[in-house]
Amino acid sequence: MKTKITEMFGIQHPIIQGGMHFVGFAELAAAVSNAGGLGIITGLTQRTPADLANEIARCRAMTDKPFGVNLTFLPVVTAPDYPGYVKAIIDGGVKAVETAGNNPQKWLPALKEAGIKVIHKCTSVRHALKAEAIGCDAVSVDGFECGGHPGEDDVPNMILLPRAADELKIPFVASGGMADARSLVAALAMGADGMNMGTRFIATKEAPVHENVKQAIVAASELDTRLVMRPLRNTERVLTNEAVERLLDKERALGAAIKFEDIIEEVAGVYPRIMLKGEMQAGAWSCGMVAGLINDIPTCKELIDRIMAEAEQLIRARLEGMLAA
Ligand SMILES: Cc1cc2nc3c(=O)[nH]c(=O)nc-3n(C[C@H](O)[C@H](O)[C@H](O)COP(=O)(O)O)c2cc1C
Repeated sequence: MKTKITEMFGIQHPIIQGGMHFVGFAELAAAVSNAGGLGIITGLTQRTPADLANEIARCRAMTDKPFGVNLTFLPVVTAPDYPGYVKAIIDGGVKAVETAGNNPQKWLPALKEAGIKVIHKCTSVRHALKAEAIGCDAVSVDGFECGGHPGEDDVPNMILLPRAADELKIPFVASGGMADARSLVAALAMGADGMNMGTRFIATKEAPVHENVKQAIVAASELDTRLVMRPLRNTERVLTNEAVERLLDKERALGAAIKFEDIIEEVAGVYPRIMLKGEMQAGAWSCGMVAGLINDIPTCKELIDRIMAEAEQLIRARLEGMLAA
């Protein structure tokens, strides 16, 4: 399949693996890229720019295909060493960057100068248009279904994607709720040039996370995610567990007076405990509603090959077959 996204990133299939904290290590990024998609290392999971440089080198040793790095611009007072991370990406010869969070404008000149394609992930048409205006090459449009931070507008992809298609000139991929060939074909029908998956890629053989995390996703239904931190305007879609229900009790009890410090136990520092140690009640971790569509733990290649084969079937047999001769 050839789309503006496969052409832009030099990949075989229009499938991207979104950056994921404590999931997007070199092993997963390389597996996705080797399977013909675009694998992405999560920049901020690496504690220092030197660590990121090392992770990029590790990934390059595992694949000769293009891969990218996610840079999430957090709304925090003491920012991580972003200049250092950007330098590690450029020096590492990476040619694709997924930005997310705050506006990436400040970093675009350096990235562009190095010939890097920038795909900005955002959850609204207005932010997508802003990304286009400041010179991003593509956007990843993340609907309300998505695991992680869906923003505060709550527009699901059935509306958000055609809205994006109506407004944008640059290509975009559909993100949030994407799991299989049906997701891909629907996304293409709504104007996207590919899809980005997060949660689906966690439940793969190569995802370097604890087996408990993969089993939790397989066991979960579409009813098992919750939105936390809404009162702090930092909404995150997570899989429910004891810590998440405790956090929601606090939100109900404290109302508008709630502060980050009140929920620190449920959200701070929980990713390594969940992802690496498999302590499934340790705190709130991002997971999409798409968990309801995930029933197995294939390799990345099995997953991507299956999606592409079934997508071809859907287009050639089901859709074309519906047209009158
Ligand atoms: C465990 C997890 C961690 C994530 N961490 C990040 C992150 O650090 N930066 C980011 O831009 N997106 C992050 N995301 C969002 C994903 O890149 C992607 O946009 C999202 O998962 C898409 O929705 P889906 O899970 O329904 O496929 C995370 C998602 C998950 C599930």
